[in-house]
Amino acid sequence: MAEEKKNRDGFGSKIGIIAAAAGSAIGLGNIYRFPCELGNNGGAAFLLVYLAVVLFLGLPVMLSELVIGRRTQSNPVGAFKKLAPKSAWPVVGYLGVLCGFIILAFYSTVAGWTLEYIVKSVGNSFSGKDLSVIEQDFVDFHNTGWRNVMWQVVFIFLTGFVVFKGVQNGIERYSKILMPLLLVILVILGIRSVTLPGAKEGVAFLFRPDFSKITGKVLISALGQGFFSLSLGMGALITYGSYIKKNDNLTTTALSVTLSDTLIAILAGVVIFPAAFSFGVKPTAGMGLVFNTIPMIFNQMVGGYWFCIIFFVLLAIAALTSTISLLEVVVAYLSEELRLKRQTATVLACLLALLVGCFASLSLKEGTPFVLGGRTVFDAMDFVSSNIMLPLGGLLIVIFVGWKLGKSKFFDEISNEGKLKAPVKSLVFFIIRYLAPIAIAIIFYEGLFA
Ligand code: PHE
Repeated sequence: MAEEKKNRDGFGSKIGIIAAAAGSAIGLGNIYRFPCELGNNGGAAFLLVYLAVVLFLGLPVMLSELVIGRRTQSNPVGAFKKLAPKSAWPVVGYLGVLCGFIILAFYSTVAGWTLEYIVKSVGNSFSGKDLSVIEQDFVDFHNTGWRNVMWQVVFIFLTGFVVFKGVQNGIERYSKILMPLLLVILVILGIRSVTLPGAKEGVAFLFRPDFSKITGKVLISALGQGFFSLSLGMGALITYGSYIKKNDNLTTTALSVTLSDTLIAILAGVVIFPAAFSFGVKPTAGMGLVFNTIPMIFNQMVGGYWFCIIFFVLLAIAALTSTISLLEVVVAYLSEELRLKRQTATVLACLLALLVGCFASLSLKEGTPFVLGGRTVFDAMDFVSSNIMLPLGGLLIVIFVGWKLGKSKFFDEISNEGKLKAPVKSLVFFIIRYLAPIAIAIIFYEGLFA
């Protein structure tokens, strides 16, 4: 196709697309944010709601995004302009670009911690320490302020560097080999965690649901976490979908990405909670839950020194493939819609993300002045983007595909113009048209207004 050739990169191989989309999905959302949300929202009950969200809402939204992206070969704003010219629909794209930008800004804060923790683990600074000392180190680190910002700068620079080089060379190469390795190390950690003394309670917390814990807040948190973890609702997968070739299978791509992302999240739960209960870290500990518990597990392992280094390196890379996709959304928009050079767009987006993002980092100091509506700037950005903008974006995307794009174009796209079977396509479309919008709208209402 002429248009495809013009100046857009594409994913070279099937494994490339799946690796890149999974690279976007798998990240701090799985290993850091998921345990925090689960711990703060009652444990196993949250896990159940989360799994339902992923299956019934995440998958359909993901497929919808991939369809929109591949059909239009455009960034999120351009995509809606092409499919619904002279309408208000491109607003969904703008919302997505803005949301991607906000997520990039605060996500890079936590991503920066992974670099700090690589350095700490290389310097063997956890070994033999008690939990209270490790916890204090974490707090002291935030209280420096500048050290957070410094790592954030480094991380955004790394992200910019990869995006600067373009889609094909940049993203594909990095994500292919390393995510399976992360899985392996999580399995090893998980085994150590469940065999620690007193781990049983943590296993029960994770897997034995107390249904009375399911509230509106739990529902919206699970919805937000589901979309966050799968990179949905803001156009990351519209953008990646736009790089997918016409003869690739969108349904199997969506299934593989969803499956691997969910597996990693559950594994992270299996790693964190048994160990946290064993060491006496509260499941509601928030930020420290993961960053303090993990070094403690390595302290109890043969070869823990090396495993710890490898783990934080892999975590940093998982975070990097996610920040790349966030930046890519903004850069695709700036370069295609505002006609900036790709390189200029990358530099500009990185600088802006830093400018905003450093307030997220600085807001974690004790007694910080950077507070918004009773939350730290970091929490406020997280809350607004994950619990409001992503569900809203997801809602509008399924409404768009279900009611505006319509059945025949949707079928066309997921069956590659009839070349693939796409056996349950009618059911999927039914979910996209009716079930998903209604369910998201109800959760949204229950979680924020009821
Ligand atoms: N899904 C990523 C993670 O779990 C974060 C992300 C959200 C990336 C939205 C892109 C878009 O770490």
